[in-house]
Formats: sequence, C-alpha cells, structure tokens
Amino acid sequence: MTETVTATAESGVRDGVAGGDDHLKGLILSGGKGSRLRPFTYTNAKQLVPIANKPVLFYAIEQLVESGITDIGVIVGDTAEQVEAAVGDGKRFGADVTFIHQDAPLGIAHAVKTAQGYLGQSPFVLYLGDNFVLGGIKSYVERFVGMGAGSQILLHKVEDPQSFGIAELVEGRVTKIVEKPSDPTSNLAVIGIYMLRPAVFDVIDRLKPSGRGELEITDALQGLIDGGQRLDAEVLDRYWIDTGKMDDILNANTMVLGTIAHRIEGEVDERSRVHEPVIVEEGARVSNSVLRGPLIVAAGTEIVDSYVGANTSIDSGCRIKGCRIEGSVVMENTVIEDIHWPIVKSMVGRNVELRGGHNVGAGYSLTLGDHSRIEMPDG
Ligand code: DAU
Repeated sequence: MTETVTATAESGVRDGVAGGDDHLKGLILSGGKGSRLRPFTYTNAKQLVPIANKPVLFYAIEQLVESGITDIGVIVGDTAEQVEAAVGDGKRFGADVTFIHQDAPLGIAHAVKTAQGYLGQSPFVLYLGDNFVLGGIKSYVERFVGMGAGSQILLHKVEDPQSFGIAELVEGRVTKIVEKPSDPTSNLAVIGIYMLRPAVFDVIDRLKPSGRGELEITDALQGLIDGGQRLDAEVLDRYWIDTGKMDDILNANTMVLGTIAHRIEGEVDERSRVHEPVIVEEGARVSNSVLRGPLIVAAGTEIVDSYVGANTSIDSGCRIKGCRIEGSVVMENTVIEDIHWPIVKSMVGRNVELRGGHNVGAGYSLTLGDHSRIEMPDG
C-alpha cells in the first residue's frame, strides 16, 4: 500500500495533482560505466547486479514508490536494453516508469539535465541506481516535502572520504561540498540520493566539466549554495552502501539476508536439515542438504548433497550439487558441482559452469564473470 506525497502549498505546489508539472517525481540513474564491478559489468548493467536475488536498481524503485513517488524517470545508457527489459513499464512496482536516454555518461548533473523535459517544474528525488539503502528513504522524503523550499541531501560517515562527494555542515545546512577531495575536511559523504527542485537546471546550465570530464552533481549543489539557496543535509541513520565493488555487494547481501523472514515454499526432502531463517522459493528443490540461514534459494534452483551456509543467495535456475558454499552470491542459471573445497565470499555470475574433482584443502574465493566455465581435474 502506498500513499501519495505532495509538496506543500507554500512551495507553489498543488496537492493531489498526480502527473501534473508540480508533482513530486523520481529520477533514477542507471547509465554510466561499471568498471569496478568487472567482469560482471562486461555483460550486464551494474545496476542489475543482485542483492538477495534482486537487482540493486529494484530497491531504488521500490523505495521511491514506498515514499509515494510513482512517476519515475530512469536514465539509461549503453545498457539500456537490459535495464528496460528488467524494469518493464514499472507496473509491477506500482510505478509509471519512463526511460530517458543519455547519449554518453557525461556526469550525474548531465544526466539530470537530460531529464529536464521529463521533470518539468516538479521537485524530484534523484537516486543513483547503484546506491543501496537498507530500510528505505520515506522519512527523508517526507522531511523534504515539509521543507517547502530548498533542497536536501543525505550524508553518511565513511572511512575513505577521498572516494566520495564530501560536505561541510553548519547547523544542518551545507556550506561547502567537494567531489572526491584529496585533502578531505570531513568524513561526511554525500550519498546518491538528492532531493532537488527545478532551480538546479539553471545552475547545471552554467557548469563546466570537471577534471574527470563530467558535469558533477557536487558542483551543481555548490552552485545552489553560492546562489544563496538553502541546502539541508541529514545524516542517514541506517545502512547505506555504494555497490561499486564486489565486497560491497557481498556486504549488502549479508545485510538484506539479515532481515528476511523464514519461508519455505519449495520442496525440501526429509534428509535435509534447515536452520532458520531460510527462504526457499516455490519451484526450488532441496535434497539431502543442510541449509544454514540466513540464505535464499530462488525458484527453479536445485540443491543436492550440499551445505549452503549463512549469507548466501542463490538465484533462479541454478544447480548446486556436492558443494559447500557460504557467504556468496550465485546468479541465474549457474551450475556448481562436486567442488570439494568450500566456496566462500564468492560472486559467481550467470550461466557459469563450475565442476570439480576431488581436491581438498583451503577455500576458494572466486570472482567469475557471466558465461565463465571452469573444469577442475581430480587429485
Ligand atoms: O555513491 C555516492 C557518490 O556518487 C557521491 O558521493 C559522489 O559525490 C557522486 O559523484 C557519485 O560518485 P561516483 O563516482 O560513485 O558516481 P558514478 O560515476 O559511479 O555514477 C553513479 C551512478 O550514476 C551510477 O549508477 C551510474 C550513473 N550515471 C553516472 C554518470 C557519470 C549515469 O547514469 N550517467 C552518468 O553520466
């Protein structure tokens, strides 16, 4: 059940005008490159990498809908075809999704500018499609709506401030914001969720490309501040991650699995043992195996003579036989058979075949891209 959030009358926004020019909209960025997630991003958009068997992008869509935002523009680039096929028209999320093509990944602010025609005079929530927040953003969107004017960003403390946009704050207002500073003055990273108004387009029109050749959203925000506009910030009180790297995906996977409710809808035979919480979806089959949750096994997957340990997600159409696997993500239609060394902290792509002999010893940590194929000899 969703409720509609509309901006207040003071901001010149009429209540309840769904689809009107002043209605709160969403903009999710799902273009760009994913070089840090290779090899997965050779064949797939980085926003489609799964967390608990669900593409990271879907969490963003769901969280906007949960915040009452159902008109959602999705920026797409080189991987447009895949993203469009995965998201569809948005109806299954309760959203009306419009895809907007960005010719080249020329920066986040450039992507926002590309969406100006779609956004019109609406206030909007910009959500970077590779960012993941556990527990949603509804309360923050409500605060933005309550502000009536000005913009709002969300911050999170980080250990490596050189890798993010970094903000300086005075009493909840942002006074300065710098993209990936070599000499950071705070550890408050700007996370990829920005609540903005159409005034930002004028600022973007005046931006020059940065050192990395992009129109930076941080420069646009600094432009708002320099123009005397109010930019508020809230420090996020919940788990957030920029899913740019493999370790981050495994970490986010563990966090989501930590919230699941036990549910067995598939077949688990009497020779198997299950330690809750575990999700076995309808159409999945488990025989002579141990499942130690939290973990998830998707529809159409078969687990035979195996141990599947905590914090593991196995997507649909897989076959896991004679293996010990834990703390890992296995994507669709992958076969892992007779691997006698434990598979730990691994990400295994789609359509991978991993077949073992009789080796014993320490664990493997594998990063295998889509369509990889590994045959291991005995002995
Ligand atoms: O994750 C938070 C960080 O995101 C902020 O702290 C930084 O200030 C902000 O610049 C951004 O930094 P990144 O370097 O991580 O941005 P990235 O290039 O990874 O792009 C973020 C998302 O936006 C990603 O899903 C791809 C998409 N994108 C990016 C660009 C540059 C586009 O759709 N079009 C683009 O032109």
